[in-house]
Order: sequence, then structure tokens, then C-alpha cells
Amino acid sequence: MRLVFLTLISSLVALVHAHFQLQYPIPRGPFVEDSEPTFCDGYANVTANRTVFPLNSAFIELNSEHTSWIIGVIISTAQDPTSFNDFHDPKNSSAFYQVMPFNQQSGEGLFCLPINLGSFGIADGTNATIQVIFDGSDGILYQCADLTLSSSATVPTGTASGCKNLTVTSTAAALPTSTTFASSANAPQVSINMMGPVMLFGSMVLGMVLAFL
Ligand SMILES: *[C@@H]1O[C@H](CO)[C@@H](O)[C@H](O)[C@H]1NC(C)=O
Ligand SMILES: *[C@@H]1O[C@H](CO)[C@@H](O)[C@H](O)[C@H]1NC(C)=O
Ligand SMILES: *[C@@H]1O[C@H](CO)[C@@H](O)[C@H](O)[C@H]1NC(C)=O
Ligand SMILES: *[C@@H]1O[C@H](CO)[C@@H](O)[C@H](O)[C@H]1NC(C)=O
Ligand SMILES: *[C@@H]1O[C@H](CO)[C@@H](O)[C@H](O)[C@H]1NC(C)=O
Repeated sequence: MRLVFLTLISSLVALVHAHFQLQYPIPRGPFVEDSEPTFCDGYANVTANRTVFPLNSAFIELNSEHTSWIIGVIISTAQDPTSFNDFHDPKNSSAFYQVMPFNQQSGEGLFCLPINLGSFGIADGTNATIQVIFDGSDGILYQCADLTLSSSATVPTGTASGCKNLTVTSTAAALPTSTTFASSANAPQVSINMMGPVMLFGSMVLGMVLAFL
């Protein structure tokens, strides 16, 4: 009985805590599951070892633990971006500087998505930080990578060999209606998702019942 209970609990917890992990470019620090719902996966400060990243034709690679998800990428050209405020569009302070539109994808595992930062007029040699925003429907997740953009850099050989290449559709999906980029807010607004706590509570009650059998 206890085993059934533990299995039940752990599978529910796994469901509640499904995440994503940025593989390339390498994020600011090792993945921290509990911090991923916060700015840059909890890594507030710029790192000293930037990835020299292709200015033009490039891609990002990630591991998805969700079967259905929305992804987008915002950028900061500040030397040391430490908050969402640093990711505002230099041409429109009410918007984030978005370099990959929110687009709907599906599937678990390794995926590559094309990105072209030069097409946004960002100059060769610019130090920048990208923040990947991922929504698998149980809360918005964030990971950052510190970069130096170079027109002569290329994605390291073999990086994309194990991933499924995706297309970023120009007709971008919107984030769920519970999520808006409010003009005055520091961060993408996320409604409190009660699904996790409700399911956890339900499984605890069920577990107590099973323990008595
Ligand atoms: C930078 O160095 C840290 C500490 O050694 C390491 O964890 C991280 O992966 C490195 N980042 C890059 C982009 O190489
Ligand atoms: C980040 O930088 C701030 C200010 O420079 C500093 O107080 C803080 O300790 C740093 N955090 C980490 C984790 O290094
Ligand atoms: C880019 O950042 C590095 C430190 O990561 C710094 O040494 C360099 O001067 C910066 N380059 C520019 C153009 O700001
Ligand atoms: C600036 O961004 C906001 C929020 O996305 C948008 O509503 C507004 O139309 C934008 N303004 C301009 C001038 O593009
Ligand atoms: C994905 O695209 C990259 C870049 O075009 C390519 O090098 C790689 O082989 C592709 N991966 C697969 C699995 O087809």
C-alpha cells in the first residue's frame, strides 16, 4: 500500500514539476528546478564567461519535459541585466525586446529552434543576454544565457545532431489569457496556478485513505 501511495505521489509531483532545460547556448548556471519560475532561473547576475554566439543564423536547443508548450525569447543588451526591466524593447519601453515570437510547439525531448538576432538590428560584437520563456501550462519558466554576438561565430559542430528541428511560425501563438505583459509590470504576469496544490492535496488525502486499508 505504502509503495502505491509513494508511486502515486511521486508521479503527481513529477507532473506538477515538469520543466525545460536550455542546452545551447549554455545557461547562466546549472539548472535549478525550484528557481525556474523566477527571473533567469534564479541567476540574477551576469556571468564572466559569455558564449560567443552567432549574430545571424543560429538556433537554441532545449529539453522539453512537456508534451505541449509555448516558447518565446527576449533579449537584453545591457552589460549586466539583473531584472525583467532590463529586457524592455529599446524602441518601446512598454514591451519586451522579443527576438523569438511566442510559438506553440509539442513533444518531449531535445528540440532546436532557429533564431536570428542580427535581423533585429543588433550590432556585431554586442554583449547580450537572452531569456528563454517557456510555458508548458503549469506556470511560466525562465532560463538565461549571457552572450557575445559575433558575425563570424558558428554554432559548434554536432550541437543540433540530437535534436528535432522545429519551425517558428510567423503567426505566433499568444501566451494563455492568464498571462499578459503588463506595461507597468517588471515581469510577465503569471496567474497563480492552483492545479499543482489541488492535485497534491488530493493525492495526500487518497494516500491517507490507502494507508488505513
Ligand atoms: C561558465 O562557468 C561556470 C562555472 O565553471 C559553468 O558552470 C558554466 O557552464 C560556464 N558557462 C559557459 C557558457 O561556458
Ligand atoms: C549579484 O550582484 C549583487 C550586486 O552586485 C550582489 O550583491 C550579489 O551578491 C550577487 N549575487 C550572486 C549570487 O553572486
Ligand atoms: C563584453 O563583456 C565582457 C565581459 O564579459 C567585457 O570584457 C567586454 O568589454 C564587453 N564588451 C563590450 C563591447 O561591452
Ligand atoms: C508598445 O508595446 C505595447 C505593449 O506590447 C503595445 O501595446 C504598444 O502598441 C506598443 N507601442 C508601439 C508604439 O509600438
Ligand atoms: C537540425 O538543423 C541543423 C542546422 O541546420 C543541422 O545541423 C542538424 O543536423 C539538424 N538536426 C537533425 C536531427 O536533422
